[in-house]
Amino acid sequence: TGLVTLDSGYGNTAAYKSGVTYLDGEQGILRYRGYPIEQLAEHGTFLETAYLLINGELPSADELSGFRSEITQHTLLHEDVKRFYDGFPRDAHPMAMLSSVVSALSTFYQDSHNPFDERQRHISTIRLLAKLPTIAAYAYKKSVGHPVVYPSNELGYVENFLRMTFSVPAEEYVPDPVVVAALDKLLILHADHEQNCSTSTVRLVGSSQANLFASISAGINALWGPLHGGANQAVPEMLEQIQQSGGDVDTFIRKVKDKEDGVRLMGFGHRVYKSFDPRAKIIKEAAHDVLSALGKSDELLDIALALEERALNDDYFVSRNLYPNVDFYTGLIYRAMGFPNSMFTVLFALGRLPGWIAQWHEMIKEPGSRIGRPRQVYTGVVERDYIPVEQR
Ligand code: CMC
Repeated sequence: TGLVTLDSGYGNTAAYKSGVTYLDGEQGILRYRGYPIEQLAEHGTFLETAYLLINGELPSADELSGFRSEITQHTLLHEDVKRFYDGFPRDAHPMAMLSSVVSALSTFYQDSHNPFDERQRHISTIRLLAKLPTIAAYAYKKSVGHPVVYPSNELGYVENFLRMTFSVPAEEYVPDPVVVAALDKLLILHADHEQNCSTSTVRLVGSSQANLFASISAGINALWGPLHGGANQAVPEMLEQIQQSGGDVDTFIRKVKDKEDGVRLMGFGHRVYKSFDPRAKIIKEAAHDVLSALGKSDELLDIALALEERALNDDYFVSRNLYPNVDFYTGLIYRAMGFPNSMFTVLFALGRLPGWIAQWHEMIKEPGSRIGRPRQVYTGVVERDYIPVEQR
């Protein structure tokens, strides 16, 4: 079929028109609904950013408090949802628990499967925003073998999540305001990123008119991979490996350049950003600020700084436009907050949720929206005749 063109990894193919997020990779610009990411990260909150992405406008004070109270009313998980965690192995990866439980939500809320019903779209949106932190905190509790902590509706979105994660019966966790502010900022910075792998997955699944829970669950699985959100777990693992080898940054850089065993500098490179990732710039500063505010030092930060310094002065990376991306420094902040490596991509998912939802809504509402169905360039055998098995 002469009309089909091959575009490996969709490098040059726009599958959708979108008014949610603007990204200029040459100039390092990222805007949600026209608002620069720097302004939202500095002055905004995660919940108002979620509202902005989903509804197109920043909320008024009344709209924001209505949104917040609606979310607050849905943070609890059905007790039967809790029983899913009993079935998971103790060492299950939290991302696998997250996507499984989100998928299972569609069995509990069969009243909201119709993507064309505005009320159903709204309630499933609120339920997801409200419940994902609870689902994530329960996954953490499972991994450490502690009892779950139920949500507290007096607390803000991030405080509530931190309390459900880190409180134990013996001791109520009272989050440091520095931690709350930093996590809120990180969630804002992750909230959308136009047609990345997981968002495209949400759209592709949603394009078949699958319900929102099913679509988001698919997005969580796409995010898990180390070339996407899973990079934020891979970065500290890489730094730990370098630390164990005595902090030998040069040997590691050589391995990457030689493409030894496919080793990549995790947290570096991006399909679209070719000068810098504006999120990484803010996050690098935040890493310094959070570590010093919490009075923590981390040898891994020194290794990360040395790696960045080497890479940015090395022709291999310079000639390929490889710069630190959003995942390079986030793990160091999450570590300082007390999260284990396996929870880092879960935190990315909490941040990305409003973007996935906003893009799903946009697609569903787009007049003439069609099922996603890529074409292919066939490279197999053209035609041959069947041979009975005894003659093969
Ligand atoms: N380390 C070493 N070499 C790299 C890296 C890296 N991190 N990234 C790209 N390259 C090389 C690659 O080997 C290729 O070189 P050559 O032309 O010699 O074959 C060239 O740069 C282009 O790479 P590509 O794989 O064609 O680039 P892509 O646009 O398909 O991939 C990427 C983008 C982000 C998957 C890739 O840069 C990568 O694997 N980075 C490491 C993983 C990572 O940090 N992912 C997080 C991305 S940002 C947040 C998110 O999406 O979650």
